[in-house]
Amino acid sequence: MTQMIKEPFLADNIDYSTYSDVVFQINSLAKADALVNPEKTVNATIGTLCGEDGKILAFRSVYDSFRKVPDTVKASYASDLGGNPDFREEIFKWINRNNNIELPHAVIAAPGGTGALFLMFTSCLNKGETVLLPDIYWGSYNLMVNKHQLKSEKYRIAENNQVSIRDLMAKSESIMERLGKLMVIINDPCHNPTGISLGYEKWSQLIDFFNKLSEKGPVIVVNDTAYLDFAHNPDHITDYMANFNKISDNVLLSLAYSCSKAFTCYGARLGANIILAKDPQRVANMDNALRRVLRGTWSNGNNGFMHCVVDVLRNHKEEYLRERDASVAMLQRRADIVVKEAEQCGLPLYPYHEGFFITIPIEDTDLLSRYHSALMKDHIYTVKFQKGIRIAICGLPEKKCYGLAARMKAILEETVND
Ligand SMILES: Cc1ncc(COP(=O)(O)O)c(C=O)c1O
Repeated sequence: MTQMIKEPFLADNIDYSTYSDVVFQINSLAKADALVNPEKTVNATIGTLCGEDGKILAFRSVYDSFRKVPDTVKASYASDLGGNPDFREEIFKWINRNNNIELPHAVIAAPGGTGALFLMFTSCLNKGETVLLPDIYWGSYNLMVNKHQLKSEKYRIAENNQVSIRDLMAKSESIMERLGKLMVIINDPCHNPTGISLGYEKWSQLIDFFNKLSEKGPVIVVNDTAYLDFAHNPDHITDYMANFNKISDNVLLSLAYSCSKAFTCYGARLGANIILAKDPQRVANMDNALRRVLRGTWSNGNNGFMHCVVDVLRNHKEEYLRERDASVAMLQRRADIVVKEAEQCGLPLYPYHEGFFITIPIEDTDLLSRYHSALMKDHIYTVKFQKGIRIAICGLPEKKCYGLAARMKAILEETVND
């Protein structure tokens, strides 16, 4: 954060420089361009799932259910600050879909995955302490770091274009040495923006590593699972969670879950934070602490939508799964086109496994900015991340995926040679 003159109405260290969310900004540019140049314009900016007609997907199974939620229920506060008990129960069952989590747990409803993450950023570290983030990451993590006056360090999620946990472990050790405590964010599966998923084996190694590290101090692992349900095989994507059962007493896990993506309800602001630890008292202590925070921050969750999610999971699961699976297949077709064509034309990509996004790695920040602008000049709208250009295939109809890699490769070459 740059040093600013104190604004008398604000507390110290509040950043009041003009805030513009680049994703929303570039999306507006893309929409305006599409009106004039519909054929050439590719809008690969926004992180919401759109159908082949380019319109946002709103699952019928979800919205048929939501329409039936009585107005009085929608108007009411939740029955419990931490979220309605039936919602908490169903969300846990939904995530623990293979019954492979056997740890004491607490579920706390939150306004989206964002709220679930906020609870951890606000509760686990003191001002000035360091949180460990991936080196290419969802920008809101950084807003939360700044808001809480924390510091951050970054671990490389890929080395030599291979998924790697080597740097994650090295940075974890280094932070533990200095701080005597570690909080790390692991956005997995379907990492935003690369589409990397770590899988069972890497998680197993990580948990063994965190257990060993926790002999030196407490370890908090925040697993941001925002895109979990859009993995290739959602029925088995949670298999890695079986590794959680072997955590030591000094390791705490938080699963930040987002209903936004799973239930196509980004605007409803619903998600959950699932706390897992070996000692039930530790879980209860976290539950109490987080409830206090949320009561003074957003008060309580979206009652109407909690009812809807419970109804969908209990009474309309088959219809829901049909829609979700069709969306997963649609995403896969898009990804296959982009990845295959990228291979053919030599466009570099981070190793993509699954999920909403595919990313072109670019380390040189000057090249990154020039490339991002050059793409826009050629009517291709993407989001510039810290170390790459993100292509949001979630919002890109198949016909827009064809030929995209070759266009992007040609522009990359021109920009490099500029
Ligand atoms: C990596 C990641 N985590 C969490 C979220 C939280 O989403 P929401 O607050 O809508 O659930 C997002 C949304 O874009 C995300 O990309």
